[in-house]
Amino acid sequence: MYASTLLVSLLGASTVIAAPTWPAFNWDAAKPDGLNTVSEYFNMLAQKIEVGKLMATAPVCDLSKAQMAVAPTPLDPPSAGLTLKHVAIGRGTQNYTCDLTNATAVPLQVGALATLFNASCVASTYPDLLQLLPKLALQFNLTAQENSRMGPTNLIISGKHFFTNTTTPFFNLDTNQYKIGEAGCAKNNQTDAPADAPKGYMGEKAVPWLKLKTRTGSTGNLQEVYRIETAGGSAPATCHGQPAAFEVQYSAQYWFWEGDSQA
Ligand SMILES: *[C@@H]1O[C@H](CO)[C@@H](O)[C@H](O)[C@H]1NC(C)=O
Ligand SMILES: *[C@@H]1O[C@H](CO)[C@@H](O)[C@H](O)[C@H]1NC(C)=O
Ligand SMILES: *[C@@H]1O[C@H](CO)[C@@H](O)[C@H](O)[C@H]1NC(C)=O
Ligand SMILES: *[C@@H]1O[C@H](CO)[C@@H](O)[C@H](O)[C@H]1NC(C)=O
Ligand SMILES: *[C@@H]1O[C@H](CO)[C@@H](O)[C@H](O)[C@H]1NC(C)=O
Ligand SMILES: *[C@@H]1O[C@H](CO)[C@@H](O)[C@H](O)[C@H]1NC(C)=O
Repeated sequence: MYASTLLVSLLGASTVIAAPTWPAFNWDAAKPDGLNTVSEYFNMLAQKIEVGKLMATAPVCDLSKAQMAVAPTPLDPPSAGLTLKHVAIGRGTQNYTCDLTNATAVPLQVGALATLFNASCVASTYPDLLQLLPKLALQFNLTAQENSRMGPTNLIISGKHFFTNTTTPFFNLDTNQYKIGEAGCAKNNQTDAPADAPKGYMGEKAVPWLKLKTRTGSTGNLQEVYRIETAGGSAPATCHGQPAAFEVQYSAQYWFWEGDSQA
């Protein structure tokens, strides 16, 4: 396969031509940043295709080549001996509740719900494009979950992210296409997103970057999960004017590390 053909299937260059089949672009939500993000994406895509044409062989999706981004105040690195198993773009909502009986209440995070898109190949081949994907993903609402693609890309669904209780983020990465594993997790380490991280629809800050450890019962040897390169998702500072429960749109990269079970 020619490199440019791989790129087309990876990044959805075919849908660049078939523009009318894209999911609806969220013009309102995208302001003021959306147009720039989308044109930045297509400029980068065009450049990759130009470079791809000149390559003798197709790029290989070798996850050992992928490098996880580091926050200004870094998270603890993955534990020794772990290897990278999967990289996904998560697109969904962070859920919050407000105690309406309390005039000084602040929003509490109660969960999240997101679709995970397989970005392993992009992570190992085009790190600069990968970095842009959460920001890009935030510009599009997901349509019918089952068949939805991520905006103008052809990234394939690799799983679902939700919470099983308020302290257990869960990742189901077993789909018809990929059997990567399932993991309930617990937060292990947290750091602020960079100051220039992409903001959400209403100007919400990007949610923190996290390191999670899997709980017992996880499958596929999944040990640690990182949420990085976040876009949007933070709650307002106070509950003033908020309903009892609400959602904030977000996107992020999730990096899944596997290894023999830790002592
Ligand atoms: C995207 O989803 C949000 C939240 O559900 C909704 O308010 C908004 O109208 C949607 N926009 C488009 C273009 O579908
Ligand atoms: C999907 O994920 C698996 C596991 O990380 C990886 O081997 C595969 O190359 C990925 N496919 C794409 C198109 O990224
Ligand atoms: C109201 O919310 C504030 C801020 O979260 C909290 O410190 C306080 O204890 C709450 N009061 C009651 C009565 O729940
Ligand atoms: C979060 O929002 C989603 C989408 O509306 C909903 O299905 C889910 O039940 C919510 N989760 C929580 C914990 O409120
Ligand atoms: C949430 O679920 C985890 C894993 O099943 C469990 O260890 C933890 O005690 C639960 N926490 C609460 C508050 O129910
Ligand atoms: C967790 O992350 C912070 C950065 O927010 C770092 O300073 C801290 O040392 C880390 N490690 C632990 C074990 O808390």
